[in-house]
Amino acid sequence: MAVADISQRRKFLAQGNVYLPHIVVIDKIIEETPGVTTFHFNFKDEKLREEFTFESGQFGEYSVFGVGEAPFCISSSPTRRDHLEFAVQRVGKVTNALHRLGVGAEIGFRGPYGNSFPIDLMQGKNLVFVGGGIGLAPLRSLIWNVIDNRDKFERIDIVYGARSPADLCFGYDLDAWDKDKTINMITTVDRGDESWTGKVGLVPKILEEVAPPAKNAVAIVCGPPIMIRFTFPALAKLGFTPEQMITTLEKRMKCGVGKCGRCNIGNLYACRDGPVFSYAQINSFISSEY
Ligand code: FES
Repeated sequence: MAVADISQRRKFLAQGNVYLPHIVVIDKIIEETPGVTTFHFNFKDEKLREEFTFESGQFGEYSVFGVGEAPFCISSSPTRRDHLEFAVQRVGKVTNALHRLGVGAEIGFRGPYGNSFPIDLMQGKNLVFVGGGIGLAPLRSLIWNVIDNRDKFERIDIVYGARSPADLCFGYDLDAWDKDKTINMITTVDRGDESWTGKVGLVPKILEEVAPPAKNAVAIVCGPPIMIRFTFPALAKLGFTPEQMITTLEKRMKCGVGKCGRCNIGNLYACRDGPVFSYAQINSFISSEY
């Protein structure tokens, strides 16, 4: 199976009734930026806490009782089992309600849903992670997963950017990866400020400057649509084929299980056929969507 042949990697691991939310408890809240928050959580049911499994790239449906439900990727790594994490950008009714919660609050969770990053097919390869803003959330699940299995992978480049230093998410991860001598970590912002000493420039441009080799490599991309739109051509310029480029799309999902039709991308459903796709799978319709 080629690295990009991920259409067959659908792993539908929802446990029991797919519509039944389990009660989970928020046990830590981290304000990443003024509009983005990470929640650490765990299942209230101890048996479920021990038995729950997921893979990097999968997502869940999170419900605030009396308000509604919304999908977010599981942003923690399956290699670190003491708790789960998801990150939320405040953009609507459910996300605003989530931002009003405190530690100890109970919410609903159902999942995990969707396919996953083909981590087993990435073994022995060079990995290039390209992220923008909160788009680092799904990537960081895979990055920590790879770091926890570091000897199975070759070179690792991470290019991550945001509009400004204040918009950089997961600063504690960026620091850890920057200190890791086995990782080439590049952080950039579109606009710096007086305190910023790092790179300034859009992610696709900085990626071209970093120029990670395409040979025996896989690029994993997630970020705002405008970044994704310009990152694929930048990778192509560097010699990456559509089969070597992978992204994750969580757009417009509602039911999460292929029933409502809200998340279609061409003839694919992001929830059922993805959210992880190779560029080879989606390039024919991504230009009208992104
Ligand atoms: S979210 Fe309902 S079909 Fe994908």
